[in-house]
Amino acid sequence: MSHNVSVTDDPQWIAFFKWALPQLRMRWAGFRKVRGQVQKRVYKRLQSLELADPGAYRDYLRQHPGEWRILDTLCRITISRFYRDQGLYTLLAGQLLPDLAELAKRDKHAPLRIWSAGCGSGEEPYSVSILWTLQLRQRYPDTELIILATDTDRNQLTRARKACYPFSSLKDLPPVWRDAAFAESAGDYCLQTTFMQPVLFVEHDARTPPPATSLYLILCRNLVYTYYELDLQQEITALLHAALRPGGVLVLGSHETLPAGITGFTPLSDKRWIYKKNSPRPR
Ligand SMILES: C[S@@+](CC[C@H](N)C(=O)[O-])C[C@H]1O[C@@H](n2cnc3c(N)ncnc32)[C@H](O)[C@@H]1O
Repeated sequence: MSHNVSVTDDPQWIAFFKWALPQLRMRWAGFRKVRGQVQKRVYKRLQSLELADPGAYRDYLRQHPGEWRILDTLCRITISRFYRDQGLYTLLAGQLLPDLAELAKRDKHAPLRIWSAGCGSGEEPYSVSILWTLQLRQRYPDTELIILATDTDRNQLTRARKACYPFSSLKDLPPVWRDAAFAESAGDYCLQTTFMQPVLFVEHDARTPPPATSLYLILCRNLVYTYYELDLQQEITALLHAALRPGGVLVLGSHETLPAGITGFTPLSDKRWIYKKNSPRPR
């Protein structure tokens, strides 16, 4: 194949993504900066199909509608790390989780149910588990933490269940937490089982109805509100709203916001990417 993959501004590739992404209900704007990862995967796919260039792949997609499903899986951005957006974890420890734990207590000591949607290879749900275990669990001895962690990528889930990471995934984690939660093993850092115990990993596509209801906290970060088109964001937001308990909290990525016109949520005044589900008005 003569066509080379240079993950840059090759107009053929840009034209391809601008054509293909909307058909998957995804936004070019979300992928623009990170498209290298996707472009490499699509290039490999082209090679395996012995297609010369993105234009040929476009024709192939037109002739083989089943290929769209494969392209969809190639378009997943999988970048994550522990303690991503430090400010969020500070807020979770100081305000959000204590408030939600109080709510759960008032709900007859219900378990504190959290959903991490698009959980990567476990960095996000395990960060919450570490935070809870090391900083809050003692204050709420009667509150059980349950974190449902879902992703549509099986490889990510396999890595998550293994819970061993390179140092680069842990570099934002406070060193005391890192030392308390991980043991070094053959160059990797493996999470101790006590921090894995509250987290349940399940395969699930964020574009389908949520896997649980009456949730206290949903983390839906760096997925829906970056990569999906506005209509799909609105549809998913309605599903997330229904899955939260009133007073429950929805956290987006720190560069994301809910689409304009969404009702039923109130943003935390200084954090436009963290929302509380409104309680029904008393009649
Ligand atoms: C950019 S990572 C974000 C991980 C984590 N939430 C964070 O903010 O660090 C996006 C994750 O969503 C997963 N993903 C992509 N499409 C998905 C979908 N439709 N449903 C569920 N997970 C999806 C990817 O496999 C990946 O693990």
